[in-house]
Amino acid sequence: MPNKPTVYATRAIPSPGIERLEESYDVEVWPEKTPPSKEHVIERLSELDAHGLVCLLTDDIDEAVMDASPNLEVISTYSVGYDHIDLAAATDRGIAVGHTPGVLTGTTADFTWSLLATCARRTVEGYEYVRDDRWETWQPELLTGPDLHGATLGVVGLGNIGAAVAKRAAGFDMTVLYSDIDRHEEAEQRIADAGVDITYVDQEEVFARSDFVSVHVPLFEATRGLVGEAELRQMQESAVLVNTSRGPVVDTNALVKALEGDWIARAGLDVTDPEPLPADHELLEYAPEKLVVTPHLASASIETRRKMAEMAAENALAGLQDEPLPNSAIEDAS
Ligand code: GLV
Repeated sequence: MPNKPTVYATRAIPSPGIERLEESYDVEVWPEKTPPSKEHVIERLSELDAHGLVCLLTDDIDEAVMDASPNLEVISTYSVGYDHIDLAAATDRGIAVGHTPGVLTGTTADFTWSLLATCARRTVEGYEYVRDDRWETWQPELLTGPDLHGATLGVVGLGNIGAAVAKRAAGFDMTVLYSDIDRHEEAEQRIADAGVDITYVDQEEVFARSDFVSVHVPLFEATRGLVGEAELRQMQESAVLVNTSRGPVVDTNALVKALEGDWIARAGLDVTDPEPLPADHELLEYAPEKLVVTPHLASASIETRRKMAEMAAENALAGLQDEPLPNSAIEDAS
């Protein structure tokens, strides 16, 4: 019997992702927790004559990777974001690219709210206060912070995740201001129907008028450094910035200056630039009083990560069988 075509996976993904692929293909999985080097991925794709590649957002998938195996038919990323994949190069080569939209929208929105609340109400500082044995008594002004309820939430980017975050503002009686390259009247209506007072405004107004600003844009050239010195200076001194999109959307040097100069009160980052953020990075000098950082966890609910694995497998299987991908990044980007 001829060998089955091979799929290379740059990491193990939750069950039943790899198992689904193994029903019809030989699958080699990089066994470590940290990513394989690009050289290793190229070598394995070439040696295996791989027809499929399952990757993560930490892998840089460029032309050299795509050219490693002449038979590569599909790249399936275990992520909604595809900024790590050169889509133009894949299109030129006729390689299908799958991603995992939709399934993680609510999960990421939930996590964004946990960061908003953590930053506002100083949860991490509170925990450290207890852990460091400094809790002597109840105090009237111990670790006070701003209320979420009744405040103004600025949403930069009203895509699926931004809209889900905005909708959840109903529970906190918050007013929402949002900016985007285009107005999204349908999403606005849905959010308004959920009981949120939502208005489309200029990006500058979002930064200037919001008590909390949450960023929800994909990373591409136009959004790299979208939150820079100018935007951070536009924010109120009492305001909180939260980023659960991609690290480079916020200019790290500008954020360091903003925290150092008290241009804003606090920031909550689930994504950073660089990522991972080294423990001796200067940003962390401001934690936890002015900064809360989590290690890119926003979609990390058990159920969502499992569903993402199923979707990644389905995209890979469709590409390997020359069928349209259930979720094509190339189509979704166009
Ligand atoms: C997470 O950031 C993703 O893109 O899935």
